[in-house]
Amino acid sequence: MYVPCWPVLAPLSLLGRRPARSLPFPFSASRRHAFYVARGGIYHLARALGCADGGTVLMPDYHSGTEVWAVRAAGATVRYYHVGRDLQVDLEELKTLCELRPRALYLIHFLGWPQPVKEVKRLCQERGIPLIEDCALSLLSQLDGRPLGTFGDFAVFCLYKSLPVPNGGLLVQNTNGPSALGGLDLRRCSRTSVVARITELLLMWLRSRSERLGAALMRGKRVAGWTLDRLGIARLPVGDISPEFSTPGYDIGKLDIAMSPWCAALLDRLDYGAIARRRRENFLGLAGRLAGRVALPRRDLQEGVCPLFFPILVPDKAAAARALRARGIEAVEFWNYGHPGVEDHAGPDAAFLRRHLLELPIHQDVGPAQIEFMAEQVLRLNPCA
Ligand SMILES: Cc1ncc(COP(=O)(O)O)c(C=O)c1O
Repeated sequence: MYVPCWPVLAPLSLLGRRPARSLPFPFSASRRHAFYVARGGIYHLARALGCADGGTVLMPDYHSGTEVWAVRAAGATVRYYHVGRDLQVDLEELKTLCELRPRALYLIHFLGWPQPVKEVKRLCQERGIPLIEDCALSLLSQLDGRPLGTFGDFAVFCLYKSLPVPNGGLLVQNTNGPSALGGLDLRRCSRTSVVARITELLLMWLRSRSERLGAALMRGKRVAGWTLDRLGIARLPVGDISPEFSTPGYDIGKLDIAMSPWCAALLDRLDYGAIARRRRENFLGLAGRLAGRVALPRRDLQEGVCPLFFPILVPDKAAAARALRARGIEAVEFWNYGHPGVEDHAGPDAAFLRRHLLELPIHQDVGPAQIEFMAEQVLRLNPCA
């Protein structure tokens, strides 16, 4: 069995007519900019907030590294605050750090679970500090019936992590007044980049139906990619979180590239209610099988939470990921590294999460049989050892 880590693209979703329904937030937000990837929005927002003079942005010590890179590339100084093993921030620490009058507070909602964003918002409002909600991992998640990303002054979303689209990062402005990115002109992305990623998503779909054929075609695609590299035909990647920060995903000259028109067309055709429902069902299905037998950082699933992955804690993350991949389960290692130098400022809980937190796919294309298969395979790892 093959369980892909990201949602796959069914060929039929490229065809067909747009259903007559309105799109949910953030697609309905009146002030939004659609970038190729979210880091473009983060970089331009940090510049618009005047960070080029070295102004301080408060950011969590547990992060992907990409968002910190983008804020620093804009000229900001980053001051880290701690994240606990339950993926939650410490309000008392934030209160103390806000006394430093930072240029902005950057809050990440991890894997769909909301931070205490109402309290953080109040803290920021009382001190006149802009709040940026990072919803890269929390598209469609809600707190008390209100979408994450509507609380902060600004919010960023990474669409291709939750949806079968080839690229896309949204920056939303919730405040009135002048548009923060008013005069920004975005460039079109290259067609080759889009076609390459769409092909990959289609092949993942095929492989989830026919393991052998899909795997063979994927190998063919890798050869095609290698050939394009040799011919010097560049593609702009999505999801590049390599720790070297020297790969094409970290080219500052490419941060003004727009989401491709293909994404907009696909986004119109998705059933967002069904996506959130399936993710929740999958989470509850795995939780029912694994709770009490595997260490879980979060067992709770409040109403409205749309989980990105099913997080588990394992003694040896690399070995567990390897073993699961060998059985066809694309487990995700979010995140083995942070931004260089964060180790000197990170708390023990962030270090613990980097060493032990492993994510299992529970997206909308994962069905009950795959959930059962994953539960069996995870239990075979004897992860509580
Ligand atoms: C929490 C978080 N924020 C922002 C980003 C940046 O997203 P993108 O890769 O679309 O630039 C990432 C990417 O992994 C992320 O995990």
